[in-house]
Amino acid sequence: MRQAILLFAATAAGFVTPRAAESQQVPIVHKGAAQGAVQSWWDALPDASDLLSAVEGRITESVHRVDSILRRPFGSDHSEGEEDNDDDDEHSHPPHHGHHPPRGDPDKTIYELIKESKHTTKFAKLIEDYDEIKQLLQDTKHNHTLLVPTDRAFRRIPRHHKGKHGHDGDDNNDDDGDDHKPPKEFVLALLKYHLLPGLHSWRDILSAQTLPTELQPAGLGGSDKHPQRLRVSATPLLHRVTFNFHARLLAGDFVAKNGLVHAVDAFLLPPPGQATLVRLLPGTFSTFALALERTGLVDELEASKGGSDRVGGTLFAPTNHAWAMLGPRANAFLFSEWGRKYLKALVKYHIVVNETLYSDAFYRPDDDGEEDDEGVADYRHVDLPTLLDDKPVSVDIKTWRGFVSIVVNGFVRVVVRDGVANDGVIQVVGKVLIPPRQHDGDGHHVNDEDISVEELKGRLEPYLETESGAYQEGMGDL
Ligand SMILES: *[C@@H]1O[C@H](CO)[C@@H](O)[C@H](O)[C@H]1NC(C)=O
Ligand SMILES: *[C@@H]1O[C@H](CO)[C@@H](O)[C@H](O)[C@H]1NC(C)=O
Repeated sequence: MRQAILLFAATAAGFVTPRAAESQQVPIVHKGAAQGAVQSWWDALPDASDLLSAVEGRITESVHRVDSILRRPFGSDHSEGEEDNDDDDEHSHPPHHGHHPPRGDPDKTIYELIKESKHTTKFAKLIEDYDEIKQLLQDTKHNHTLLVPTDRAFRRIPRHHKGKHGHDGDDNNDDDGDDHKPPKEFVLALLKYHLLPGLHSWRDILSAQTLPTELQPAGLGGSDKHPQRLRVSATPLLHRVTFNFHARLLAGDFVAKNGLVHAVDAFLLPPPGQATLVRLLPGTFSTFALALERTGLVDELEASKGGSDRVGGTLFAPTNHAWAMLGPRANAFLFSEWGRKYLKALVKYHIVVNETLYSDAFYRPDDDGEEDDEGVADYRHVDLPTLLDDKPVSVDIKTWRGFVSIVVNGFVRVVVRDGVANDGVIQVVGKVLIPPRQHDGDGHHVNDEDISVEELKGRLEPYLETESGAYQEGMGDL
């Protein structure tokens, strides 16, 4: 858990680290034998405690940042892509996409390209210890697309105290434990998260909402099942691309014999689970986090992931504002002792297990790991069964020139799409989802704002769990 928080903290720090006015063109140029000055990986990576203290203050800021993103008007389809516009007026120049001669070297593998570039020395050094990654980058039987953090990206990670690791020989000394060096599996996962199967040109990425990577976490089914995806937000007219809210695509389309290379300005950290993400953004989700805990459903989300119980899932997470819109009476009731079983039914209606719906891909348990993103037509309708007796929520996804609109149950907007997690995806909804009245097809079209307690009870009554002692026990576990 601590690890996950640190990882997220680093991600969060990425929200607010002022971006250097970095050149939009970072050519992968060949350089001579001047590798001597390459700093070791450990010199560039902080130890965990330093990282934590360096970013603690920034977490708060970044949450505010996310909050402000969430609070923007999402009434139009233009919300997407504007979310990263506010802090970078000075370096919003579009890359000269389409006007440059082919870059890279089609006779060299991706591995050779990054070994020879003077902008990727740190990444090149890092992968040396990971044969699996080296092989993928040298493999000419398959094409890959590498998102390579530039040497500057390493500098965005706060430095640790010099002298803790005198030289590379120390690296094998495990006495320091996790506090000083990320475990090898973590670094391997981190590296895999930068590598995408297949060819993804800058142009292709501009029209993507999410992209698959070589990382296959247990929570999504493990190896040969569903890949961990990256969230892409693009501003098509400016050719600007941001991954997972914080990493900017700097320069791209370097051609290699076995794929393409794009440079990014920050590390892409493998995301934690759904429940952790909800907990880490209290400015947006504290009410939902409380609801998950009071009902014991948070345990269900966490305990079952990656086990036989569940493989991926879609969590419709209402913002604090969404809860507030239910009105004070409904909230007082739901969060009271006698409202608890109603709250549980309500929260269940926001949880879909085993089916992971991104705006441009859909993972289902029986689909052999083949990702389903070909049906990314302009319009798609999916009904997802929730934990509430499989009562479905309906989802309509519309795509138009790179903009996406997702609407749940006919009128609830997804205000932030595709929050990738290692056990599914979070779709942030602008209203709490309330199951429609039974025997009333149009029930879900009524306005749920300031809903009366009687109405709320009536809608949830058919789904209440019967055993009376269950909730007491649930409390004991918290
Ligand atoms: C990799 O991509 C290139 C360029 O599109 C293509 O010619 C080649 O056949 C691909 N290689 C493999 C192994 O798919
Ligand atoms: C989800 O899938 C797992 C593994 O296939 C299965 O054991 C479990 O019953 C499923 N859960 C639901 C709620 O369908």
